[in-house]
Amino acid sequence: MDAATLKRRAGERAVEAVDGGDVVGLGSGSTAAAAIRALGERVDAGLDIQGVPTSHQSREVALDAGIPVVDLDQVEAVDVAIDGADQVATGGGGADDTAADAGVGVPPLIKGGGGCHAREKLVDAAAGELIIVVDPAKLAPTLDAAVPVEVLPAARTLVADRLRELGGDPTLREAAAKSGPVVTDNGNLVLDAEFGTVDDPASLAADLAGIPGVLEHGLFVEMADRVLVGREDGVETLFG
Ligand code: A5P
Repeated sequence: MDAATLKRRAGERAVEAVDGGDVVGLGSGSTAAAAIRALGERVDAGLDIQGVPTSHQSREVALDAGIPVVDLDQVEAVDVAIDGADQVATGGGGADDTAADAGVGVPPLIKGGGGCHAREKLVDAAAGELIIVVDPAKLAPTLDAAVPVEVLPAARTLVADRLRELGGDPTLREAAAKSGPVVTDNGNLVLDAEFGTVDDPASLAADLAGIPGVLEHGLFVEMADRVLVGREDGVETLFG
């Protein structure tokens, strides 16, 4: 079974948590897009909701799916947010992990592979419930992927120096279909910082947040209420 199918399974399960009248945070990336499309099918069938996109991408997918969209500052609350992740730390044995292995509290996440983590964190933090949807390739015993750090353009060099002082190895993210660096939806740059194994995500998150010029980093600590993993034999609730 291919990854797209597993992502779609997780996304479809997550949208079952949405009720009529809800304001729904719409995450970014391919797994969240699968969830948005599944939500669009429920809207087609009469579900009355509003979506709060976390990126230009999720806004376009939502509009294409027929979901009414609003900005975060136009709503009083977000009931539930559905979002993907680049890496989920299970505390256990990686891709074949089970919910039992994950009994280590709220799994920390790395997000920002699409450069959308600033708005994602904003909307996800505002949500009454955050449901993370992933395929098994995203699971790891501990976080060890590069941490995306969105920086104000003028702060790029200073932030890179501070990241090195923290033990990181930052690389400016280059655009794939444009000359020069990736420019985020907020007009900023992204440094992908390798830290090796992140043994204390909360501590690193605090350090990153304290660097002047950092708009947002991709460590999501103590944020997920539920983690759903699309698997060949169904959808596993890894956490929640
Ligand atoms: C976007 O910046 C990210 O945080 C995405 O949520 C993350 O990269 C997951 O994307 P996929 O679902 O496409 O793997």
